[in-house]
Amino acid sequence: MIRCVDVHKSYRLGDRPVHALRGVNLTIDRPGFFAIMGQSGSGKSTLLHLLAALDTPDSGELWLNGKPVHNLDERALTAFRRREIGIVFQQFNLIPTLTAIENVQLPGMLAGESREFLESRSRALLTALGVAERASHRPDALSGGEQQRVAIARSLLFSPRILLADEPTGNLDSASAEKLWRVLAGVAREHEITVLMVTHEPAAAANCERIYVLRDGRISGQIGTEGLDAAGVASVYQQLVRAA
Ligand SMILES: Nc1ncnc2c1ncn2[C@@H]1O[C@H](COP(=O)(O)OP(=O)(O)O)[C@@H](O)[C@H]1O
Ligand SMILES: [Mg+2]
Repeated sequence: MIRCVDVHKSYRLGDRPVHALRGVNLTIDRPGFFAIMGQSGSGKSTLLHLLAALDTPDSGELWLNGKPVHNLDERALTAFRRREIGIVFQQFNLIPTLTAIENVQLPGMLAGESREFLESRSRALLTALGVAERASHRPDALSGGEQQRVAIARSLLFSPRILLADEPTGNLDSASAEKLWRVLAGVAREHEITVLMVTHEPAAAANCERIYVLRDGRISGQIGTEGLDAAGVASVYQQLVRAA
């Protein structure tokens, strides 16, 4: 479902190139809840942007749901992104003047979906995510955890096969973060999709079945989390980062 082959990406900072991704190789070929873990500046957000089809690699291959995304033009990329990839961010990115349910429906309205479809799909998603009773509230009347659930519901509107999450609990207290990790694990299981979360926190990554460690723009190792708690993950992660 996700396959990166020797993916490179650079930015220009003035006249200095910043080589953010230096040959990423990564294959995730089944549904489940996975993490990419790395220090600040290791390239996590850059990689997630490529996986979200928001940007294209400078070189290398990027296959998503069996399609060669590195070969798609801008128009095809936009259509692909809308239908096949969901993404949620640390800042929730809800529209403050719309209610929760209107926020969920918005991408569908922009895509010209029918009212009937949007009404039933958005209700079902808010119910599945445990925020149905908050449907007619605006974001500022919701807790952070509730806002993120609404954002997840919105990201699932078109039944994507891949859900990407960039530090999704970065703005939540630890109790809300714990709940949200369970929600993401549940989404992966119930919708049978690949949920890939970027994080620098061992407590977050410990909820995933496998952790890919990103270091200096490359995947430098993997951690299977079976039998590991957050402290165990932190310790294996530190060893990997030191050894690399
Ligand atoms: N738009 C940009 N312009 C220039 N440099 C960037 C840009 N975005 C990221 N970078 C640089 O690329 C590297 C990787 O950044 P990023 O992917 O945001 O890492 P992370 O999410 O792991 O903190 C960093 O050195 C960062 O400063
Ligand atoms: Mg980042």
